[in-house]
Amino acid sequence: MPTAYVYTQHGGPEHEMFVEVEKPLPGPGEICVAVHAAGVNPADWKRRAGMTRGGALDHPVGLGREVSGTVEALGDGVTGFAPGDEVLAQVADGPRGGFATYALVAASWTAPKPAGVSFTDAAALPIAAATAYDGINQLDLHSGATLLVIGAGGGVGIAACQFAHNRGARVIGVASAAKRELVEAVGAVHVPSGDNAMTDARSLAPNGVDGLFDLVGGTALLGLGTLVDDGSRIVTAADEATAVALGGARVRRERTRSVLEAIVDMVDAGTFSPYVTEVFPLARARHALGLVEAGHAKGKLVLQVA
Ligand SMILES: NC(=O)c1ccc[n+]([C@@H]2O[C@H](COP(=O)([O-])OP(=O)(O)OC[C@H]3O[C@@H](n4cnc5c(N)ncnc54)[C@H](OP(=O)(O)O)[C@@H]3O)[C@@H](O)[C@H]2O)c1
Repeated sequence: MPTAYVYTQHGGPEHEMFVEVEKPLPGPGEICVAVHAAGVNPADWKRRAGMTRGGALDHPVGLGREVSGTVEALGDGVTGFAPGDEVLAQVADGPRGGFATYALVAASWTAPKPAGVSFTDAAALPIAAATAYDGINQLDLHSGATLLVIGAGGGVGIAACQFAHNRGARVIGVASAAKRELVEAVGAVHVPSGDNAMTDARSLAPNGVDGLFDLVGGTALLGLGTLVDDGSRIVTAADEATAVALGGARVRRERTRSVLEAIVDMVDAGTFSPYVTEVFPLARARHALGLVEAGHAKGKLVLQVA
């Protein structure tokens, strides 16, 4: 019997559990994917905690928003894919999730997985890497520009550093000391997070920075945001209210197949990595999600499903 990791009501991790489910039938525009791997994101626990936007869903609600796997069945109107194809995808809006034997994904957010890209890496791209890709495009950094990334060692941050670096930007990455090596591995200059971050960043960019990509928000963004003369050069995926107060904006998500194709092609070409640092079996979903919920994830965490 297929299984799915779900939450049964809003609240803490005690409301998460495995349930047996029927194999889902894809609706119009959807694909049923036999899941091989699923990325873990803050959105998973935030959804369970009732912190995300969007309409109310009937419980139980499946956890997991990004997957890789093989096409099991196609819904009406889906073209360009066939059963057995290897794909990566963002999970379709609704109560079903990706921490499951089978996931329903929107065909428009699904891309073919090149043979040279592992299922593990592919599962880590549709949310974190795609958010970073969209945010860097929104900032439209030119070669030689200086970008400050707050939260540079997490899933979105480590991807943002690479996309900016690949554009020829100089990247300053704020992250805890434990992530120095990781941040430097992607060509960024590491600034330890904490009380001295502002002073350290200012000494590296005495005239300020040309863009700021925030993945933390709150006081970190309020303080470091002063390094940007023009507040409209701030984008955030974490704290829209603070970014807007500074003149910035939330990352505008594209959620298209072409973005997934662009990113997975870079992985295939060796010019981008999602930096999957830990892989857990699906049975340890609660542990993996707990690590992300603790707020100090290093790169990406992925669940191995099949
Ligand atoms: N809107 C969207 O579509 C979208 C998509 C993806 C993510 N997001 C949001 O974007 C945020 C980041 O996501 P993510 O996947 O990158 O999360 P993540 O993988 O959990 O990483 C968050 C990182 O922030 C670091 N951090 C925490 N406090 C910090 C501080 N004061 N200064 C510097 N770094 C700090 C953490 O570790 P250390 O402190 O140990 O360095 C961690 O590496 C989350 O709020 C998430 O919900 C939004």
